[in-house]
Amino acid sequence: MYLLRMMRVEDVPQVVSIDQLSFGMPWSARSYHFEISDNPNAHMFTLTHTDALDPLLNGVDQVLGYGGMWLIEGEAHISTIAVHPDYRGRGLGEVILVGMIGRALERQADYAVLEVRVSNTAALNLYQKYEFTTVGRRKNYYRDTHEDAFLMHLAPLDQAYQSRFQARLTALRTRLSFIDAVF
Ligand SMILES: CC(C)(COP(=O)(O)OP(=O)(O)OC[C@H]1O[C@@H](n2cnc3c(N)ncnc32)[C@H](O)[C@@H]1OP(=O)(O)O)[C@@H](O)C(=O)NCCC(=O)NCCS
Repeated sequence: MYLLRMMRVEDVPQVVSIDQLSFGMPWSARSYHFEISDNPNAHMFTLTHTDALDPLLNGVDQVLGYGGMWLIEGEAHISTIAVHPDYRGRGLGEVILVGMIGRALERQADYAVLEVRVSNTAALNLYQKYEFTTVGRRKNYYRDTHEDAFLMHLAPLDQAYQSRFQARLTALRTRLSFIDAVF
């Protein structure tokens, strides 16, 4: 069973390991601790697999992915999202993104924003599926490869968007069973 919930300090070692497998410039464990414990604007989410009958899990949640967002006034800024490489392509990234957009809607954010590498087709498609559009390009944005970033916006987060969002959420739930302990 998949469970989307708020990130906990005890998730950090597994989150950092997925981060290192996913990004050229991973965040440190300290950054995650700060976001979880000391940043009131940060909303950090963990997607886990819980199976009380699996002896290998030993009662510990297995972290499959995570996401982060800053909510400041009317802006929801998606700061990070990743799924463990072994679990990609089965809807889990979408579950995490839906959790973050759902939180933004619940908190009545006016718009959402994010940056993404121009070559990151999987992430671009995921964001476009939820109606993010490219509004700009930032040259040499990433220090490791000097790659450009697309700046993407999702707006307005109005009633009409909420209806379309709910329809996509329903479609996702017919594909995948997950418990949402976020919103
Ligand atoms: C981006 C990422 C989070 C997507 O997670 P995922 O669990 O593999 O994605 P999902 O299975 O939920 O797919 C959701 C949508 O994303 C898009 N997508 C996912 N993988 C894709 C791929 N390999 N090629 C093209 N589009 C893809 C599709 O639009 C898909 O919708 P569909 O199933 O209706 O076709 C994942 O690839 C990842 O962790 N990448 C490394 C970290 C990263 O780049 N994060 C983004 C930083 S901006």
